[in-house]
Amino acid sequence: MASVIIAGVGSYTPERVLTNHDLSKMVDTTDEWIVSRSGIRERHIAAENEACSDLAVKAAQAALADAQVQASEIDLLIIATASPDMPLPSTACIVQHKLGIPAHATCFDIAAACSGFLYALEIAYGQLLTNRYKRALIIGAEKLSSVTDWTDRTTCVLFGDAAGAAVLKKVDQPGIGIIGSDLGADGEFVDHLYIPAGGSRCPATAKSVDEHGHFIHMKGREVFKSAVRVMETVAREMMEQYKVTPDQISLVIPHQANIRIIEALAGNLEMPMDKFFVNLDRYGNTSSATIPLALDEARRSGRIKPGDLTLMVAFGAGLTYGAALVRW
Ligand SMILES: CC(C)(COP(=O)(O)OP(=O)(O)OC[C@H]1O[C@@H](n2cnc3c(N)ncnc32)[C@H](O)[C@@H]1OP(=O)(O)O)[C@@H](O)C(=O)NCCC(=O)NCCS
Repeated sequence: MASVIIAGVGSYTPERVLTNHDLSKMVDTTDEWIVSRSGIRERHIAAENEACSDLAVKAAQAALADAQVQASEIDLLIIATASPDMPLPSTACIVQHKLGIPAHATCFDIAAACSGFLYALEIAYGQLLTNRYKRALIIGAEKLSSVTDWTDRTTCVLFGDAAGAAVLKKVDQPGIGIIGSDLGADGEFVDHLYIPAGGSRCPATAKSVDEHGHFIHMKGREVFKSAVRVMETVAREMMEQYKVTPDQISLVIPHQANIRIIEALAGNLEMPMDKFFVNLDRYGNTSSATIPLALDEARRSGRIKPGDLTLMVAFGAGLTYGAALVRW
């Protein structure tokens, strides 16, 4: 029986660091408020001339090197992003060209917000199993600073820029790699987290710019509650479906939005916090990039060893959510 494995992982964070102290000079906030309500201490912000694709390319190069796979061998490229270089064409086509991925490859973006990396993982997993593709590159890349309202203290303290990537391939060995993956969405909560302008509903006008319509709008408390609920549900369903008990999971890699959300999830699942990988204190919420960035750090710091079982779990605007179980 064949399996699909994560053959390599890589990530990239821009050089510039914006601390809570820096933010307290921009909006009416304090380091104490941000740390106590979110756990975030600093985030990385891309340079003006750095776009989503630039971050994606650097993460992808690291993942390809880690997997010892050439860009010329990739035949499926999926980029999950909520902050593409431009509405048309896809950021995937821009990244394909920059990396030198061949013209016969299938390249596209997906919009699933912070769950985007897990959506990309499931799509690539299914496609590799059909034998239609041989090697997939999936990337979560965000320049959220370009859609952040830097005058809104309720949102601007939360987000950052980053990219993370993984190379997936099929191997003839049962029981390793992606054991299972589950996704979901609930469009009832569209208005809890959204960017109102810039699409066909409200094209860009001077008024939409004046009204800050091109930035992230969020109902923080509602998102918080939904996040804990859906992540717990999808994590439980995943464990039940694959007959895995919490003690068999060596590491949970949750979407990094707020330490309180992760603590609530850990409490509800009755799992100790030391099983949850956390790096949001240094990066904030980088949307589709949080899971591959955390995965990369977890592997490099020795938190994931051969044979380990990890659970990745995410939620995001939409409301979208997902989970994946991976044996290393
Ligand atoms: C946004 C979030 C950190 C706010 O924390 P909270 O405990 O819910 O705080 P509230 O929204 O209730 O705000 C409490 C007070 O702090 C104020 N406040 C909000 N942002 C602030 C800031 N950066 N600095 C200081 N005060 C702030 C509010 O105005 C409010 O004041 P009021 O009581 O006088 O009205 C939290 O709700 C959250 O993380 N939600 C989920 C967001 C998320 O994960 N989004 C991404 C999804 S992928």
